[in-house]
Amino acid sequence: MFAIVCVSENWGIGKNGELLFHIKDDLKRFRELTLDKSVIMGRKTLESLPGGKGLPRRHNVVLTTNRDYTAENAEIIHFPVEAVFAAGEDAAVIGGEQIYRLLLPLCDKVYVTKVFASPEADAFFPDLDADPKWQVECESEIFEENGLRWQYVDYVPAQEEEDEEIAALLDSRSEEPLEFYPQPDLSEFSQFHGF
Ligand SMILES: NC(=O)c1ccc[n+]([C@@H]2O[C@H](COP(=O)([O-])OP(=O)(O)OC[C@H]3O[C@@H](n4cnc5c(N)ncnc54)[C@H](OP(=O)(O)O)[C@@H]3O)[C@@H](O)[C@H]2O)c1
Repeated sequence: MFAIVCVSENWGIGKNGELLFHIKDDLKRFRELTLDKSVIMGRKTLESLPGGKGLPRRHNVVLTTNRDYTAENAEIIHFPVEAVFAAGEDAAVIGGEQIYRLLLPLCDKVYVTKVFASPEADAFFPDLDADPKWQVECESEIFEENGLRWQYVDYVPAQEEEDEEIAALLDSRSEEPLEFYPQPDLSEFSQFHGF
């Protein structure tokens, strides 16, 4: 499962139930990365989508505590664990803040669009740069559209320190020439021969 999000410089993601940015290239990338997959979202994010209905060509899994809730092209779920099962492995967590915070620990990748701007926000994504549990896997060049500059940054869970130490040890071993140690002199034990 992965998460995909567009953030401002201080990890803001929304204001008054709306997105902070509408970058064509980012929306295209979002579509490409989620098409024909399951997407998990909160009720508020669903209601921010055009027509308040699920995204086309995606299995829309929507979390709400409201037992009577219905929406077009959406599977309505009331418990996070059920949402994860309903969505299956190849699923994208698409927001908003509550759902990101809930399911981030289950994600093995986060596709972040980092926009170099800081408009006011009332919804935020956790700051992955300040979280030692995450590390940058790769980052794109900086793009520009209608005066907005942004960059795509992929995050993956940070390797355990212990894993890194072992990997470093194995690396250094493989560079060292093999050493052959002299055989110990066992002659003084020759009296025991025969036992
Ligand atoms: N920048 C981005 O990439 C991006 C992406 C998505 C959204 N957003 C923005 O994020 C903002 C919305 O975020 P948000 O945090 O306010 O709302 P949200 O996460 O979209 O939805 C919250 C709702 O999800 C339901 N919910 C949450 N936890 C639940 C649980 N444990 N069990 C069952 N249902 C649960 C509740 O619905 P009920 O109240 O019905 O019970 C809750 O009110 C908007 O501004 C939106 O534009 C930004």
